[in-house]
Amino acid sequence: MKRSVFLLAAVMATIGVFSQKATTMREAFADKFLIGTALNTRQVVSRDKALQALIKDNFSAVVAENCMKAEVLQPQEGVFNFKDGDRLCDLAEKNGQVVTGHCLIWHSQAPRWFFTDKDGKTVSREVLVQRMKDHIYKVVRHYKGRVKGWDVVNEAIEGNGDFRKSRFYKIIGPDFIRLAFQFAHEADPEAELYYNDYGMDSPGKREGVVRLIKDLKAHGCRIDAVGMQSHVGFNTPLDEYEKSMDTFIAAGVKVMVTELDLSVLPWPKGNYGAAVETNFEYQKKIDPYKDGLPKAKAKEADDFYIKLFDIYLRHSKDLTRVTFWGVTDGDSWKNGFPVRGRTDYPLAFDRKMKPKGFVKTIVEMAQSDKYN
Ligand code: G3I
Repeated sequence: MKRSVFLLAAVMATIGVFSQKATTMREAFADKFLIGTALNTRQVVSRDKALQALIKDNFSAVVAENCMKAEVLQPQEGVFNFKDGDRLCDLAEKNGQVVTGHCLIWHSQAPRWFFTDKDGKTVSREVLVQRMKDHIYKVVRHYKGRVKGWDVVNEAIEGNGDFRKSRFYKIIGPDFIRLAFQFAHEADPEAELYYNDYGMDSPGKREGVVRLIKDLKAHGCRIDAVGMQSHVGFNTPLDEYEKSMDTFIAAGVKVMVTELDLSVLPWPKGNYGAAVETNFEYQKKIDPYKDGLPKAKAKEADDFYIKLFDIYLRHSKDLTRVTFWGVTDGDSWKNGFPVRGRTDYPLAFDRKMKPKGFVKTIVEMAQSDKYN
């Protein structure tokens, strides 16, 4: 008996069964960090078997692109709409994927009623704090046990490190951030809590975020990680980006890459970011790849992604998740931002659901000794 088991093992080893290498991102990054994607509701409910297999096979984590934002979850005061968020959790549970909640408090996509009374007048600090508390309690408790962690506050710091003068800031003051973290923790003490922002390569933003981490910690608030959105372009300074990652880690939190995409298109004004209020008029010359991406550009994008994943793999001890902001190029918000109607190529899978060249390379990198 023992002899036959030994022989079988020898045969399997010879044909490579034991040494088989991972072929998908989900397998390859399993012992490094979660690898995730944002899903829109159309994708969550889609019956397209190839798409569902792609989502399941390649990603160990998912996040709602829109349906867990306040304007969707609580369109009117006290009226909650958990349907699409619940479907996302159902799919994730079926696929064995970790769910991140995005996002509790954000100046954008916050329902209008949040800030005004029945006569349309701006509410007092007390009222807004209570509304924030009610929203966070209801949502976090609803998803308790299904959502691993929350982007508690999104985009509250400007590029120069100052607080964004949002309505939350103007009505409550800077402690709206601390209160949001406190309420989220009270609602689900087990949930991880994150601060999430874009433009993290900028030194001003870096310093502002570090001040925030320190302030939250000094006040005894739970903060597990900083989410670096990472809507990047070819001109994103990777040295500054990595420096921010190191600085956040040194300030005592984990880091997450929460909304990764790489725009290959020219930016109308030369700077990159994700401020959703930004919009420019369409011009043909800033939509150069309508009929396909030239090989040289595709190679440039592959190389850039490989550089990013080199950074991520070198930080895998403190980097807990890397999430792409979408599944295929065709679904990306970048086709509509900051100019509507362009054709961008920012994600890991193309419009035909084929993996980009860099995917094979990063899968190999994840398994190489260099990053052990
Ligand atoms: O839901 C309405 C739908 O009823 C209507 O028919 C349609 C017509 O345009 O609009 C739909 O809403 C759109 C929504 O996406 C869902 O498709 C909004 O207009 C549109 O503004 C919204 O854009 C989203 C944006 O956040 C604003 O919420 C993008 O899909 C989403 O990718 C983007 O994600 C943000 C992150 O949450 C935070 N960080 C930046 C990132 C990119 O802006």
